[in-house]
Amino acid sequence: MERIRYPAIHRTVSQTALGCMHFGQGDAPLPRARAALETALAVGIDFFDHADIYAGGRSESVFGQIMEELKLDRSALVLQSKCGIRFADDPAPGAPHRFDFSREHIIRSVEGSLQRLRTDYLDILLLHRPDFLMDPEEVASAFAHLRESGKVRAFGVSNQTPSQIALLRPYMASPLVANQVEFSLLKTSLLDTAMVSEGRFPTSGCAGDGTLDFHRIQGIHTQAWAPLAYGYLSGRTPGDPLPEPYRSAAERVTPMVLNLARAHGCAPETILLSWILRHPAGIQPIVGTRDPARIAASAAATSDLLSREDWYRLYLASRGRPLP
Ligand SMILES: NC(=O)c1ccc[n+]([C@@H]2O[C@H](COP(=O)([O-])OP(=O)(O)OC[C@H]3O[C@@H](n4cnc5c(N)ncnc54)[C@H](OP(=O)(O)O)[C@@H]3O)[C@@H](O)[C@H]2O)c1
Repeated sequence: MERIRYPAIHRTVSQTALGCMHFGQGDAPLPRARAALETALAVGIDFFDHADIYAGGRSESVFGQIMEELKLDRSALVLQSKCGIRFADDPAPGAPHRFDFSREHIIRSVEGSLQRLRTDYLDILLLHRPDFLMDPEEVASAFAHLRESGKVRAFGVSNQTPSQIALLRPYMASPLVANQVEFSLLKTSLLDTAMVSEGRFPTSGCAGDGTLDFHRIQGIHTQAWAPLAYGYLSGRTPGDPLPEPYRSAAERVTPMVLNLARAHGCAPETILLSWILRHPAGIQPIVGTRDPARIAASAAATSDLLSREDWYRLYLASRGRPLP
């Protein structure tokens, strides 16, 4: 397992992280979540991603309960959570689904996460999705309170463009440490939108031009959510057909992933994650599987498994059109 440095929390962490979004899902989620957490620790994963909203807070609660039952050393784990998304009817019926970076909401959200996770600090707090009504000074004031009270050690963002990060940065007392964005062989917009002179083809995606380069220049970790492409490139049959262009991309990429897995004697998840690790930005995949075999296969990925030719073959298959 490769490790990367997070200077703001004074430690290295596993490059591959476990996303705990699904930990609270289902009628009796504990055994599945416990098996996932135990497997993750056994294969060297020590970075765990949460959010206040996952399964309505239940995912954090389940994690906190398992951490206590297994008597895990809190200081050996890196716990990251997110805040800023508010679902409809919160706090009262009729409230719309929205984003909320108000001081009050950020602080209250962290206090809820700490209680559910049964810990007195978060290593990292991310702002989940950009709030169009954000006041950077108000965010800075909330962060200062959380840091000074020892409740959060470092801060970052998720799903933000370089300009949104640049807007926030001057107000921050310490550098933002990460931006978590969707990236996989099914969702390659971080690459597509960085390509100039491709006028005939519309670009798509949330990240905007140059996000990966911006992160590298600014020393911000890129965290990739949904790096396993929800299983659709490694054998999962979708209940409903995937919408285009994802259906065609999956039809082109999946056989290549399975062939490469056979050739390398590994699982398809190892190929999917190795494709991400091959990029020089040092991307940190946040895998959301609770399946022990898939967690182990994800942890087995390395940055040098795939050749330049295979990396481009897979990217080209996902794009479905030639490079300029
Ligand atoms: N910042 C954000 O806005 C944001 C958004 C979404 C997610 N996230 C984070 O990213 C993490 C990962 O995201 P994700 O879980 O949506 O995506 P993912 O890691 O790409 O996919 C994991 C999901 O796909 C299923 N899966 C994988 N391979 C499969 C296969 N071969 N057959 C059947 N099912 C398969 C898993 O089920 P099994 O457990 O059965 O393997 C699990 O439900 C989350 O846990 C969360 O921490 C962040």
